[in-house]
Amino acid sequence: MVDLSVNLAGIKAPSPFWLSSGPVTNTAKQADLAFAAGWGGFVWKTIGTPIINVSSRLGGLNYGARRLVGLNNIELISDRSIEDNVREIADIKRRWPQQAVVASIMAESKKEAWQELVRQVEESGCDGLELNFSCPHGMHERGMGAAVGQVPEYTERTTDWVKSVARTPVIVKLTPNISDIRQPARAAKAGGADGVSLINTISSIIGVDLDRFEPIPSVNGRGTHGGYCGPAVKPIALNMVATLAQDEEFGLPISGIGGITTWRDVLEFMVMGATSTQVHTAVMHWGFRIIEDMIDGVTNYLEDKGFHSIQEIIGKAVPSLTDWGKLDLNYQVRSQIVEAKCIGCQVCFAACRDGGHDSIRLQTGTRVPMVDQETCVGCNLCLLACPVEGAIAMARVDQGKPYMSWEQYVSAAGAQGCRGG
Ligand SMILES: Cc1cc2nc3c(=O)[nH]c(=O)nc-3n(C[C@H](O)[C@H](O)[C@H](O)COP(=O)(O)O)c2cc1C
Repeated sequence: MVDLSVNLAGIKAPSPFWLSSGPVTNTAKQADLAFAAGWGGFVWKTIGTPIINVSSRLGGLNYGARRLVGLNNIELISDRSIEDNVREIADIKRRWPQQAVVASIMAESKKEAWQELVRQVEESGCDGLELNFSCPHGMHERGMGAAVGQVPEYTERTTDWVKSVARTPVIVKLTPNISDIRQPARAAKAGGADGVSLINTISSIIGVDLDRFEPIPSVNGRGTHGGYCGPAVKPIALNMVATLAQDEEFGLPISGIGGITTWRDVLEFMVMGATSTQVHTAVMHWGFRIIEDMIDGVTNYLEDKGFHSIQEIIGKAVPSLTDWGKLDLNYQVRSQIVEAKCIGCQVCFAACRDGGHDSIRLQTGTRVPMVDQETCVGCNLCLLACPVEGAIAMARVDQGKPYMSWEQYVSAAGAQGCRGG
């Protein structure tokens, strides 16, 4: 059997499949259902001074027949009392001692407020704390959430307040609403954080009602900027996780969040440097049961590849992530249409002529186009637009020319220029 257990900055869990903070992790009943279904960790809905929520508070992005490709929300932190949350966490920890229960917390930007909340919440016996410096709406306007995470000095100072009283590991949840994720991550480290989690939601307006001229979701005729999440945000989240995994100055454990829906998503975050993963929108859409596929998929993958423990794959793809300037300019591929599989829809022709390099030609007597090998630049667009798996292949055509980076090219061109001059 493959060992799926993980240890994120001292928070031990039977698997890397955790639920992130939000409506999915609001109550003890949900924790019971989630752990019974097979989830390995549960980051409780952010606890703080209880708030009042608005109605309605969610908006969805549908794409063709696919619903909830993206989800937008204007929900705030927990509307339940600190005491109720603490009592339920304690109860859950008693009944599920092996599973990781992390308490997400958010306080007013005052030392006493944060430290008092830490003391109260740690009474629950939770395995760790996640500091919410990242909600981009509502709390942010009150100087909390992303208002802290967007200013490295505030991030460092607040983390330090918490660390000086916390008895359990402290994870800082980062906001993606910044230009360079390394700045708040390094600030969290400077404040003493044991790890980080990312991403929280992306500031957004998901759509507009064109009959009422109101942003969606509407609260009695008005809308506001919300937080965007779900499958559509995965590339942004993966990019930020990988950037931190690669940052030698940072070097703390990472919990990856953002658009994770399938076992493949989990593995992609882990090979890009995440020690655990957290899921939210996918469970809001499909329920806790999606964990069954995640466990099967990850286990089968690891067994097929000959790994004994999931920890062996953490960060495995990070060394192959590099700067553009180090990519091989001599590596060349060209598109080829596989006649036996082509259905003659000619989507590739339109895509290449109008959106690519005009290298696909129509032929008389057949609907199967052909690729002009002289002008094709090997961009992949036809392959991506083609509706049939395997009907277009990219073949290597550089005959194994030696590696040449942009940096090598520039220095060779410079040398030649000097000689020429
Ligand atoms: C309705 C809703 C409420 C959320 N509330 C919180 C919260 O209270 N605290 C928090 O840290 N993140 C909150 N999040 C953010 C999620 O934990 C997660 O970071 C984000 O949704 C990205 O993951 P996903 O793409 O899997 O949904 C919330 C997300 C949604 C959709």
